[in-house]
Amino acid sequence: MPPADTGGTTVSATSSVVTLNINGEKHTLPVDHRTTLLDALRERLDLTGTKKGCDQGQCGACTVLVDGRRAVACLQLAVAAEDREITTIEGIAGPDGELHPVQEAFVELDGYQCGYCTPGQICSALAVIEEHAAGWPSAATGDVRPEAGPLTPEEIRERMSGNLCRCGAYVSIVQAVAHAAAHSADDAKETVA
Ligand code: FES
Ligand code: FES
Repeated sequence: MPPADTGGTTVSATSSVVTLNINGEKHTLPVDHRTTLLDALRERLDLTGTKKGCDQGQCGACTVLVDGRRAVACLQLAVAAEDREITTIEGIAGPDGELHPVQEAFVELDGYQCGYCTPGQICSALAVIEEHAAGWPSAATGDVRPEAGPLTPEEIRERMSGNLCRCGAYVSIVQAVAHAAAHSADDAKETVA
């Protein structure tokens, strides 16, 4: 098939123009079909907060949220992310730059050392807290009824097990996630009250 012209950008059988909705902003760009979401974010859109570790789905450093669910951006093609809602670490803080409670907890409780894994850990933690609150069981869940207990350290370790930290900051990461989860549970109670 001959290349098509799309407003000055040539696309072919191996490339397409995609629109990625990232942190509430639309970005339209031509990409080779083999481009991963991770490379599109980092190399094409300068969103370098999302980190590349293993580049093969093993370390969780590249975790972002796609339609609110955790995804390793190194295993997702940019073309497959078209029109999905993508949230990266750059989109977690509030509009005035105030840190999200999960970010605050990581700072307060020393949830990082070099910080390389931290963006992925924080994106993952956000979804973990929501998954647990919604009653989704993990492999560590003893009682799978919706009213099953709090987010215990064991639950946190299991649910965050896809995110590796080469510095070994795990103890503080578990504390930070537990702290943020407890706060969001308190906020939910206040909203209901
Ligand atoms: S860089 Fe994606 S999982 Fe390691
Ligand atoms: S803080 Fe260094 S890799 Fe996790």
